[in-house]
Amino acid sequence: MSATQPIHTFLTGGDVRKDNKVSYGYSVMRGKRAGMEDFFFAEFKNHPGRSSTVGLFGVFDGHGGPHAADFVRANLFDSLLKNPNFPTDVSTALGEAFVETDKRYLQADSGSNRDDGCTAVTAVLTDNTVVVAHVGDSRAVLSRGGRAIALSEDHKPNRSDERSRIEAAGGVVVWAGTWRVGGVLAVSRAFGDRLLKRYVVATPDVREEKLTSQDDVMILASDGLWDVLTNQEAVSLIKDILDAEKAAKRLTDEAYGRGSNDNISCIVLRFKF
Ligand SMILES: *[C@@H]1O[C@H](CO)[C@@H](O)[C@H](O)[C@H]1NC(C)=O
Ligand SMILES: *[C@@H]1O[C@H](CO)[C@@H](O)[C@H](O)[C@H]1NC(C)=O
Repeated sequence: MSATQPIHTFLTGGDVRKDNKVSYGYSVMRGKRAGMEDFFFAEFKNHPGRSSTVGLFGVFDGHGGPHAADFVRANLFDSLLKNPNFPTDVSTALGEAFVETDKRYLQADSGSNRDDGCTAVTAVLTDNTVVVAHVGDSRAVLSRGGRAIALSEDHKPNRSDERSRIEAAGGVVVWAGTWRVGGVLAVSRAFGDRLLKRYVVATPDVREEKLTSQDDVMILASDGLWDVLTNQEAVSLIKDILDAEKAAKRLTDEAYGRGSNDNISCIVLRFKF
């Protein structure tokens, strides 16, 4: 292997919830630069006033630079936990946390000439209820009895509802290799992206699911994985891998092996409800 070839390594890890009903594992591509941040969040947190823990999970995929992804990783779940609607109405609280974190990023970054952004897919798990929120094309997929169900629908500029929203705000969706907002950005919602903010909003789609004994696995991953694996392929690939960390590693190895050269980040949740 020559020294000029990119050498990617994957950072992996995981944990188990106290009641043993949920475990998670992550596998994220480490950048070439030493000290580069890893843009994911995964933690079981004790919340005062609740008997059970809250699971907080997110994959953040930057474009145009790392700053937005780093800021969102560091601040989004703090904003959620401080939201007055948490924990009684997690969906509302999570939606508001996305919008607030985006505003704070744009304020914090307003003195710079940067114009980067990031997509996000997040899952908040209390007992057996999961709330998924996303902006952009990082995606959540659930395995229900082995069948893949997308819990998020990618925010692509050519989705008819997204195109209508963008055009109503005075923007355009143009073909430039793929469909792009203003001919520039290939996702229609994101954090950051100051210059396109009127069109590229950070308001997430939010979906709540009660998990049952049919639900065995959930995958959160960036488009680096979904560009080369279908939802069903991803679910089928890990159906027999009970260790969530090994399952996450298997998925990122497969995506890398299939030639994905994008950032690849993946969290696998395993359920025993
Ligand atoms: C990978 O992530 C970094 C940091 O967020 C970002 O600056 C870069 O544009 C990403 N690369 C690709 C190919 O998406
Ligand atoms: C959006 O464009 C892509 C090609 O970039 C195509 O595969 C997809 O089907 C289109 N989606 C819609 C809703 O038109």
